Amino acid sequence: MTTVLTIGVGAPLAQHLDAVSSATHLGVAALEAPGGLMARLEEAGQPEVLVLGTDVPLDRALGLAAQVDVWAIPLSVVLVGPSDPDLWVAAMRSGVRDVLGPDAGQDDVAAVLHRCGTVARARAEATRPVAGHGPGPDQGPDHRVVVVASAKGGVGKTTVSTNLAVGLARSGRGSTVIVDLDMQFGDVASALALAPEFTLPDTVNGAASSDPLVLKTFLTRHPSGLYVVAGSDSPAAGDAVTSAQVAQLIATLSTEFRYVVVDTAPGLSDHTLTVLEQATDLVLMSGADVPGVRGMRKELDVLQELALVPARRHLVLNMWDAAGALSTADIETTIGAPLDVVLPRAGAVALSTNTGVPLLQTGGRDAVTKGLQTLLGRFLPDAAPSRPGLLGRLRAGAR
Ligand SMILES: Nc1ncnc2c1ncn2[C@@H]1O[C@H](COP(=O)(O)OP(=O)(O)O)[C@@H](O)[C@H]1O
Ligand SMILES: [Mg+2]
Repeated sequence: MTTVLTIGVGAPLAQHLDAVSSATHLGVAALEAPGGLMARLEEAGQPEVLVLGTDVPLDRALGLAAQVDVWAIPLSVVLVGPSDPDLWVAAMRSGVRDVLGPDAGQDDVAAVLHRCGTVARARAEATRPVAGHGPGPDQGPDHRVVVVASAKGGVGKTTVSTNLAVGLARSGRGSTVIVDLDMQFGDVASALALAPEFTLPDTVNGAASSDPLVLKTFLTRHPSGLYVVAGSDSPAAGDAVTSAQVAQLIATLSTEFRYVVVDTAPGLSDHTLTVLEQATDLVLMSGADVPGVRGMRKELDVLQELALVPARRHLVLNMWDAAGALSTADIETTIGAPLDVVLPRAGAVALSTNTGVPLLQTGGRDAVTKGLQTLLGRFLPDAAPSRPGLLGRLRAGAR
């Protein structure tokens, strides 16, 4: 039976819901109690469907739906309201799954609940959230801001940050956003085959800069569930963005997303140093050439002097070629630290860049994809052993 939480729903509709589901009914005042909606959902045992009744002001209801959408939890939101096309459009944009008329009959209620319950269960299955690690505000110690940086350009920062972000979004561990902080030549949107309506400069002005719900409307959604703050398509507009604005953007995103992945421009720009102040993780990258590796060493030294190396550091060597002049041992000696992940040079990467389909979206079995999965694994420390697929279960049954 579908589990339902209703807020501000009138008596006749509540009775219809009781007849076909296991429902908890609350008044609008419940939204003002400590913890707000998130706490009420938890108290109601994480229901599959949330019905927002006509007692909830429309703006408030749409805002709540947008918030639930960002949390990316397996919950379908139903709005009670008139069957007005404008309302439908606004509702769908906010992430509402279905709209019920205030005087809907028993059959309508049953049909809507059936659809919404099915979607919520499918989403729960697809994302398999880990108990106690739900996304959303107040995310606790597992909350991560990951900065991907390098001394030189063209070493694979965008490749790694987009793959990591898509991998995190697909992992179901929590809502994920990627921010393209390469103000001049950002290409995160292109690496994800997205045509964004808004870019970073749009997000740092006006209400979007401090209100997470407004900000969300400026983000672009990737099919993996990942949210994207695309880079500026005009270098001039990008240059006008100040470090304080960048800091505010990352802080606002951090309140709503469990994972914030930041792609950066080469070198140590002001913007990169600014986000490092809020970072929990630094992914420092280099190509497998002498100048690149020396650059990595220098960048690490400077960041250490500035006390800007976050708690977790991941050294990634990219475009490794076994036939090349440098051995990984030479490279580790030059850097003065062990490499955490080595990604080989592979044609599959260029193909993925050109088609805009990250390797972790398709899940191939080649060496680069495996290396990217190893890197992803470093951000999922509580990773439960993955459940065997159908084939694995058949094999286990045959034993
Ligand atoms: N491991 C790799 N093997 C082959 N080509 C790669 C590899 N990693 C990145 N590339 C290619 O190198 C180019 C630059 O990568 P990119 O991620 O844009 O670097 P950056 O963001 O550091 O400038 C892209 O065309 C990408 O396809
Ligand atoms: Mg780049």
